[in-house]
Amino acid sequence: MENVRILVVGSIVLDRVLRVAEFPRPGESVRGEVVGVFPGGKGANQAVCAARLGATTSFCAAIGPDPDGTEMIMKLRSEQIDCSMVHSIERAATGTAGITLNDLGQNTIVVALGANMMFEPEQALKAAHQQLHHVLLLQGEIPLEASRAAAEASQGLVIFNPAPAIAPPLSMYPLIDVLTPNESEAEYLVGYPIHDEKTAEKAAKELIVRGCKSVVITLGAKGAYFRAADDEGLIKAPTVSAVDTVGAGDCFNGALAFALAHKLDLRRATRFAVQCASYSVQHVGAQTGMPYFDELGSDVRALISP
Ligand code: RIB
Repeated sequence: MENVRILVVGSIVLDRVLRVAEFPRPGESVRGEVVGVFPGGKGANQAVCAARLGATTSFCAAIGPDPDGTEMIMKLRSEQIDCSMVHSIERAATGTAGITLNDLGQNTIVVALGANMMFEPEQALKAAHQQLHHVLLLQGEIPLEASRAAAEASQGLVIFNPAPAIAPPLSMYPLIDVLTPNESEAEYLVGYPIHDEKTAEKAAKELIVRGCKSVVITLGAKGAYFRAADDEGLIKAPTVSAVDTVGAGDCFNGALAFALAHKLDLRRATRFAVQCASYSVQHVGAQTGMPYFDELGSDVRALISP
């Protein structure tokens, strides 16, 4: 398999996960069970996915000077991820998230980003200049100015995952090669609900008019709709029984970056990413559920190395 390089400029967060039968309504208390404490953060999750699939992966992020941050970086290093551009910020705390899972495998996430929001644009720019990469992967859990600085300095293909829902300024769209919202993030960007191929197609067309080159809208168990200059369509997800959907979107983005770095067209890259995300929802934990390349089916592996 060809050696591809992916740079992730993004977030790192410690996830505290509880399981409940049903999510509480406002004002309601419900009993739950502890699932565990897991390393997370959309950026770190995406980096783990890319590294496990086989990409040479670098991660640029901000943590606080606390054990949570240090331990998570050690775990990322054990995944062979270059963390030499992770910065520790004085008087800031490493990000933390409270996550609930229900019996349907759905999740709610409340994230306190802490040090992630003190990420300096200069650090992002330096990383994009210094770290060789085929694909730069960005999300919405660091300041937009930092993402923008990395995108401007990048010589690679730029994927921007606007999650949690965040609206890039119009002037940032031309810097984005692939914009990857999920249904609710796409709704936030265009202002109407996205729930099927037709509404996703309409939204993708509008987002491309704003200046990004292509769009992939993930549709949960329905799969993902992609739109590039010369092709578009819905890639259906296989039917699986989901136990934990936390990090499925991150798995999708890490896998999409990996496939695009291998020069797959957007249709085949989306197919690969949908299959990887379907694998991840069958496993507990955002990072622990990311697939290694060898764990994928032979038909999925063949998309990368026929
Ligand atoms: O996408 C899932 C991630 O979002 C979790 O790991 C949590 O940290 C939040 O940032």
